[in-house]
Amino acid sequence: MRAIYYEEFGSADVLKFGTMPKPSLKAGQVLVQVAAAAVNPIDRRLRSGELQDFFEREWPIIPGWDFSGRIVEVGSEVSGWTVDQDVVGLAFSWFLHGGTYAEYVAVDVASIAAKPKNISFIEGAALPLVCLTAWQALVEFSDLKAGQKVLIQAGAGGLGSVAIAIAKHIGAYVYTTAREHNFDYVKSRGADVVIDYTTSDYAEVIREREPDGLDVVLESVTHEAAITAAIHLVKAGGAVPYMNNEPPEMAEIKQKNIKTEFLHHRPDGQMLGQIMALYAEEKLSIPHIEVMKLEEAAEAHRRSESWQTRGKMVLHIQDM
Ligand SMILES: NC(=O)c1ccc[n+]([C@@H]2O[C@H](COP(=O)([O-])OP(=O)(O)OC[C@H]3O[C@@H](n4cnc5c(N)ncnc54)[C@H](OP(=O)(O)O)[C@@H]3O)[C@@H](O)[C@H]2O)c1
Repeated sequence: MRAIYYEEFGSADVLKFGTMPKPSLKAGQVLVQVAAAAVNPIDRRLRSGELQDFFEREWPIIPGWDFSGRIVEVGSEVSGWTVDQDVVGLAFSWFLHGGTYAEYVAVDVASIAAKPKNISFIEGAALPLVCLTAWQALVEFSDLKAGQKVLIQAGAGGLGSVAIAIAKHIGAYVYTTAREHNFDYVKSRGADVVIDYTTSDYAEVIREREPDGLDVVLESVTHEAAITAAIHLVKAGGAVPYMNNEPPEMAEIKQKNIKTEFLHHRPDGQMLGQIMALYAEEKLSIPHIEVMKLEEAAEAHRRSESWQTRGKMVLHIQDM
């Protein structure tokens, strides 16, 4: 099968386009013919050799976890899924080998959901990782409710784009950070207040507008000032899910009874199915998507490293 793979850690240059064996199925898995795979920052971080203490691997490694496609084979101990069903999913694994930048992927059925008919394969591939992350951070962990106030950092990114839409669907009031050229975009996602973090101190702006504090900060920015500002910005009893780091050691966390944790998305086909139902009912809108060819994966990783892409990048693998 056609695939992107790497045989050593390094820059985007280690990504090769070539032929790899089709994966074989284990119990509890289905084989999916992949239509499209999204590019996420974690893909290039793993490729560069980061976070390897947490993972096992077998070389060569095909990157990618997000996918959409069609079931072409059903493994043993699988019920409820049949050949020819169109699905989306998050093929997350602590074992790096057979990712989704390929024509086929073997995936646990606990990680998949039916693709809504009204969204395309490209759109379906863009959603699983960021939707599950946003839902687990805002709904499950933070218990965000209608009328509450939330800061979603990096609103123009893949995670921010869907987190804003989910927060608005819940009925929350959304602050976000973006550069000016993304203002119209993040407003179209539903942001109520957009702050240009390059020309003003976003924490100062929020403190002035919300002296009592926010209910939730979805913190995905990695610099130290942002990590500590998140704790200062929430009110007593608020929540700060961190996307990249453990919470800072600050007495304020205990004093204000702030719920905080480094959250890592987990695959959950049932939850993904509930989120897909919201897309089927058009209660959530699709983020901006840039489509690239599978063989352009190295270029997609370089662009992701710039931290300046809007919405999602999706690799088109085959028509269905
Ligand atoms: N823990 C988890 O499970 C999990 C899951 C998904 C993502 N993440 C992490 O969350 C972060 C965001 O992920 P993503 O997929 O959204 O990444 P992304 O799509 O690559 O984010 C790119 C966006 O970040 C914005 N940005 C860059 N620097 C910024 C800053 N200092 N302040 C505000 N916005 C900034 C840019 O917007 P402008 O051009 O407007 O600046 C750009 O649109 C990444 O670090 C990723 O690793 C973690």
